[in-house]
Amino acid sequence: MVSLAPMEGLTTVYYRQALARWFGGVDRYFTPFLTPTQDHRFTKRELREILQEHNGGLPTVPQLLTRNAEDFLWAAGELAAMGYQEVNLNLGCPSGTVVAKGKGSGFLGHPAELDAFLEEIFSKAPCALSIKTRIGLKDPEEFPALLAIYRKYPLAELIVHPRVRTDMYKNTPRWDCFGAALENSPFPVCYNGDIYTPDDAARLQAAFPAAERLMLGRGLAGDPALARRLKGGSAASKMELAGFVDQVYESYAEAFGSRRNAMLRMKEVWFYLIRLFLEGDKLSKAIKKARDPLDYESAVRSVFSDLELSPVLRPDW
Ligand SMILES: Cc1cc2nc3c(=O)[nH]c(=O)nc-3n(C[C@H](O)[C@H](O)[C@H](O)COP(=O)(O)O)c2cc1C
Repeated sequence: MVSLAPMEGLTTVYYRQALARWFGGVDRYFTPFLTPTQDHRFTKRELREILQEHNGGLPTVPQLLTRNAEDFLWAAGELAAMGYQEVNLNLGCPSGTVVAKGKGSGFLGHPAELDAFLEEIFSKAPCALSIKTRIGLKDPEEFPALLAIYRKYPLAELIVHPRVRTDMYKNTPRWDCFGAALENSPFPVCYNGDIYTPDDAARLQAAFPAAERLMLGRGLAGDPALARRLKGGSAASKMELAGFVDQVYESYAEAFGSRRNAMLRMKEVWFYLIRLFLEGDKLSKAIKKARDPLDYESAVRSVFSDLELSPVLRPDW
């Protein structure tokens, strides 16, 4: 089973729709985190992400980022009433402002409080709950104790991104920590981190034959056909990629009523996608620097007319 990782600023509802239409291969789509606050109201931007009519029937799992059980339960209740069967808790976000508030991976530094929070939300859960976690704040040695806490609760799934907060996105994911979670957990465990090619996935599978769940973030952002390829399907064609970026761009333009704002969002899409093209540096710069939608559109046309697709994704982010 393959899931699309939540990526703030990238994997919005428009992106998810286009990914499903042009490439497929993804079984579940996680939303970037929503942050329920005390006023117990979703923002307009959050509603755009979660209203079922926008999600067009895609199997979607909304993600919440909070350390407040009451706010979590309010949001989970609303989401369950909208028809969502599962809600995911973010225990991975490494951003300084989030961690300073003890949220995301910052919550991992307060295990007793985390345990009490989980006790509260699981005892009153209006739907299935899953967790996406890093393996600690500073040290992978923190993970066994965290795992012991998670194992007290009936998680729908534990997604492990085996880095600590201080790794941010650097260093190598600790596969042994994923292995420890996979073994003897009473719930399904999903692997996440640095899977860029079918070979990477095959190596993981060879190391852990029992691993049945993968979550893909930057690998899928850089090669939108990666999930399809993992299931034996074909690589992305230029025609599909052009259709995909056009759909994402046009849906942003319509939603924002502004091609300029849509262009700004597309720069994030291209940050990952340009690596799928050979010798894309010059046009990557042109896209990055575009100030005007016409400049952006012209640079994108050149990508598709001038550049060849690379046989392998070359991530350098
Ligand atoms: C730009 C960006 C935004 C992200 N936003 C989220 C988020 O909203 N929620 C979350 O749980 N993880 C978020 N992540 C982490 C990814 O979901 C994923 O765990 C991480 O990128 C490692 O997986 P990958 O190597 O497949 O990308 C984000 C990562 C990036 C690079």
